[in-house]
Formats: sequence, C-alpha cells, structure tokens
Amino acid sequence: MSGGVYGGDEVGALVFDVGHYSVRAGYAGEDSPKAEVPSVVGYVNEVAETQMDVDNIQAPSQQQRKYFIDTTSIHVPRKNMEMTSFLKDGMIDDWDIFEKMLDHIYAKHIKSESQLHPVLLSEAPWNVRNKREKVTELMFEKYNIPAFFLVKNAVLAAFANGRSTGIVVDSGASQTSAVPVHDGYVIQQAIVKSVLAGDFVTMQCKNYFEEQGVEVVPSYLVASKEAVNEGDAPKWVRKPNIPEVTKSWHNYMTKEVVQDYQSAVLQVFDSPFDKEMVDNMPTIHYEFPNGYNQDYGAERFMIPEALFDPSNIKGVPGSLMGIAQIVTTSVGMCDIDIRPSLYGSVIVTGGNTLIQGFTDRLNRDLSTKTPPSMRLKIVSSGGNTERRYGAWIGGSILASLNCSKGTFQQMWISKQEYDEGGKSQVDRKCP
Ligand SMILES: Nc1ncnc2c1ncn2[C@@H]1O[C@H](COP(=O)(O)OP(=O)(O)OP(=O)(O)O)[C@@H](O)[C@H]1O
Ligand SMILES: [Mg+2]
Repeated sequence: MSGGVYGGDEVGALVFDVGHYSVRAGYAGEDSPKAEVPSVVGYVNEVAETQMDVDNIQAPSQQQRKYFIDTTSIHVPRKNMEMTSFLKDGMIDDWDIFEKMLDHIYAKHIKSESQLHPVLLSEAPWNVRNKREKVTELMFEKYNIPAFFLVKNAVLAAFANGRSTGIVVDSGASQTSAVPVHDGYVIQQAIVKSVLAGDFVTMQCKNYFEEQGVEVVPSYLVASKEAVNEGDAPKWVRKPNIPEVTKSWHNYMTKEVVQDYQSAVLQVFDSPFDKEMVDNMPTIHYEFPNGYNQDYGAERFMIPEALFDPSNIKGVPGSLMGIAQIVTTSVGMCDIDIRPSLYGSVIVTGGNTLIQGFTDRLNRDLSTKTPPSMRLKIVSSGGNTERRYGAWIGGSILASLNCSKGTFQQMWISKQEYDEGGKSQVDRKCP
C-alpha cells in the first residue's frame, strides 16, 4: 500500500447487505453470502449494582445489556431474554446493536481482521445523510477499514440482474418498495413504499389461525407428539423445565413457525381471487411442530391475495396499494421519457417474492394497468438464492469488478480520502 492509496487487489473486499429479516455477509466475487445472521437479536438486562442513597430510596441501577446474536444463540430459551432489532424503516437505528452485530460477523464468520478488507455496505434507498455519515465514520474509525463504499440496495439488485436501469420491486420482511433506477442512480422522489410484505403476510396467517382456533405451538415447547388425523386436536407433551421466557421471544419462535408455513403452503393466484376456481386447486398438507396437521386449500390463495388486492384487509387504516399499483404509481412519478425503460425491466427481488405465483400475478396485474403498446418485462432470477440475496449478489459483482487499481480509486472512499476529507466524503462519492 503506497501513498495511502489502497491497492485493491491485495485482499478481498467484504459485502454486507442489511435487512430486517437478516444481515447477509461474505466476500466479493463469491456467488452467495458466507453468512446469514438474523437481524433480530436477544438481550438480557443485567443489573450491575443496586445502590441505595442516604434516604434509602433506590437509585436508578446501572443496567447493562448482554446480547445474544445469531441463529443458534437466539434459539436457546433464556429467562428474561427480550428480542429486538437494530433497524427501523430499513435504516440503522440502534448503533450499539449494529456494532455488536458487526463484531460478531467479523469474529465468527469472516474470521479475519477488519483493517484488511474494503467494505461495500448496502443501504435503504431512502437512507438519510446523518446516518450515512455516521456509518462511514464507524467503519473507518472503529473497524479501521482500508476503503468503503455505500450503495442503495435497489441499485445492487438491479446490477445482480445485469441492469443499470429498471424499476426494482423489493418485497422483503418489513416492506415492499418500488424504486426506479436510471443509469445506476435511484430516482429518489419516485420511491413508493408499502407495509404489504413478508411480516404482513405472517400477521395475516396468524389472524387466520386464530379465527380457526388453531394454536401455533413453537417447537421449543414440544417434547414429543403423536400422529393424529387431519384436523384433529393435537396430542403432544410439553417440555419440562423450560426457563421463564419473555413474550417477545415466544412470539419470535412462533413467527418462525408461521414463516415456514408461509413458504411451504401459500401461493398467489394467477388472476384476481375467485372462490370457485380456487376451490378446485390442489391442496397442500402441512403439519405443525405439535403434530396438528391439515390440508390447506382456498386459504393458501386467500391469505397472500391481500398483497395484490388489499381492498378486503381488516384493521389497517387508510387505503393501501396493491403491489402492481405501487409499481405503476412509482413509474408515473418518473419522467415520461424513461417510463418505457422502467416497464421494460421490472426487477423482482426479496424473500417475500418467493411465494409461489408472485411474479406471474405481478405480470398479469401490470399488463392490465399499462397501455397495450408498453413493452412489459419482468426480470427475476429463477433461483431462490438469487432472489433472496439479490442485493448481496449485486454488491459482490460491483465490488469485485472495481478492484483493479484504476477503477478502485474512482469508486471507493479510501482511508486516505476519509482521513483528509472526513465522513462527508460519503456524500461526494456514494450517490
Ligand atoms: N420461500 C419463501 N416463500 C415465502 N416467503 C419467504 C420465503 N423465503 C423467505 N420468505 C419471507 O421473506 C421475508 C424476508 O425477505 P428478505 O430476506 O428479502 O428480507 P430483508 O431484506 O431482510 O427485510 P427488509 O427488506 O424488510 O429489510 C420474510 O418475511 C420471510 O418469511
Ligand atoms: Mg430487503
């Protein structure tokens, strides 16, 4: 490394893609992330020392948090362990937890020193200036990285699909967004977001089970179960000696069962929901951890229908847009000249789009909402991994393409640039 300019080709860059469901991390140039760590972490408040003051009134005790991070650790039932996340609206909100998360990933998955690897980090397309600067500062000051680049996840998902222009439809856990990308830049004022995404589908499933009187019992409670007939009351034995767990942890464990049901059972109907047609579709058998099992038919389609036709959703105030309408609204806010190129590349990414039938239905709904002369093309990777890790893969490609000396210096913020220009370098170098 001469003159403080990072050479680029010495060691591999790292790519971090952050989402509400998980953080994906690994080496640039690889096909898929080395690690996927749940973004939900556990913590236990430990009271350091309770002090009494002179009047014998209890002074506020010094609370310290012990964190539990990653799949194995958060699945252990622990007394008083609450679950929380470091993200809010796709942006880093709790910096302390975010640091703990990075420490964990470097130590347990990357297993290499942070000062050796440039870092490409994804961000929500609506991320704000002070958070962008703060993360830049954190990466250089605490992790001492040699170079940094911050990129909007929608742009990365477009790159992963070989596009620099298109409208990115990202349906993850917390939200679905339509983000127009033109020549590699996000058209900020035309971003449209909605809460109709994976967590919403989970909630719809839970409501449905409640209506049906089916109690979803997470596996941590089940010691053994007996085979029972379809729809019959389950016969299972509760595990003894489980510590007194919190509601937030129990809910997280329940949510995982429902998420499994979501991916195994649900399907989006290829045209607006029609009870008679749906009744003739094949059913899917599903068994819960406590042995309760059933064949699911119409409800397989009814539950995710709300993503595309939210008119019947109960308990959500205001009018919601279905996914096709999110897309047309976003495109409608873009310059008329570029609309054909956006409809010509509707890039579908995010875990929730893996519900069977999602892209076909989107295609169908969009074609009824756009003029017949408009060429419409849905771009989506067939493979589940590619669709779930779209932004990470785009980052992997971008970071490895820009590792030669010439292009490297153009794209990345080097340590030297940071030292000379400070955290505002991110505003200058990362659009
Ligand atoms: N095969 C599948 N079928 C249906 N849903 C799935 C499937 N796989 C994952 N999901 C859902 O996708 C969501 C996670 O998607 P993704 O990993 O894109 O989210 P994220 O990027 O971490 O979150 P966000 O975009 O909200 O920040 C979860 O709600 C999960 O239940
Ligand atoms: Mg996401």
